[in-house]
Amino acid sequence: MTTATPIPVRPPLPSALSGKTAVLIGGSSGIGLAAGVLLRSVGARVVLVGRDPDRLKAAVARVRSAGPAEDPGDAVLAVAGDAGDERTLAEAFDRAGHADHALVTAGGLSGAGPLTGLSADDIRTTLGARLWPAFAVARAAAERLPAGGSLTFSSGILVLRPAPGLSAPLSVAGAVETLTKALAVELAPARLRVNTVRFGRIDTPLIRSMPGLDSDAAVAAAGSTAPLGRIGTAEEAAAAALFLMANNYVTGQVVTVDGGESLT
Ligand SMILES: NC(=O)c1ccc[n+]([C@@H]2O[C@H](COP(=O)([O-])OP(=O)(O)OC[C@H]3O[C@@H](n4cnc5c(N)ncnc54)[C@H](OP(=O)(O)O)[C@@H]3O)[C@@H](O)[C@H]2O)c1
Repeated sequence: MTTATPIPVRPPLPSALSGKTAVLIGGSSGIGLAAGVLLRSVGARVVLVGRDPDRLKAAVARVRSAGPAEDPGDAVLAVAGDAGDERTLAEAFDRAGHADHALVTAGGLSGAGPLTGLSADDIRTTLGARLWPAFAVARAAAERLPAGGSLTFSSGILVLRPAPGLSAPLSVAGAVETLTKALAVELAPARLRVNTVRFGRIDTPLIRSMPGLDSDAAVAAAGSTAPLGRIGTAEEAAAAALFLMANNYVTGQVVTVDGGESLT
């Protein structure tokens, strides 16, 4: 895995991702889907991974529509399965053929509850089910990505401003940020980069599944208290992931996209 050759210098703008291939674990909705659309629109190939086959099918059609009308058949692929399942991940990377980048946006709202209200099994399950996928993807990516490749994880600003009842999921998000730095150092000799995007409130199906946030008016009202007066779009969030994929001189970083909310 070790190479003495410096990481390649290449154009750092997302447009230079044209012709590259990205595996998007969590690519069938929200920020991952928006990343797929942006990547396809600049000429990249994508492999979308998610659990629900119907959601994946719809996402493939959406991402395909962002590319040229005469789309090569293998420009947008999908693999249904769990982010923590190594066979699913192997299939996704295999189907990619030659993957250059991986982005992990698989995640959700599970695992919340007060410390003593959760059972020991609940806590172990949350830590395992939500942290293991980051390791599983990293292990698959480390074996397959070429020098100059990148791995990007997701976390959230609640790691900086915790709310009660979120100790288990926030411990996972904090661990992912630490994993990012640990792997950036470990994988740098292979010229692989590892970063995380730390999201504030982003308008996705995930946030709209939260109580009281299921309409445009409710989302607008929730955003009105934010420094910039609204919550972020999935495209704004995904664009940070494309930046991290494209820029070969950024590794071990946590980039915050939150409209300034973590400052308040
Ligand atoms: N939106 C926000 O405001 C916000 C804020 C802070 C952090 N985040 C984090 O950012 C990430 C993306 O969020 P989002 O808002 O884009 O969520 P989303 O719209 O719910 O999309 C999540 C995607 O991940 C997939 N997924 C979830 N669990 C999976 C698993 N175990 N294996 C494989 N695929 C899985 C989902 O598809 P299936 O369900 O079909 O598998 C879906 O494609 C999440 O980790 C979330 O916690 C989001």
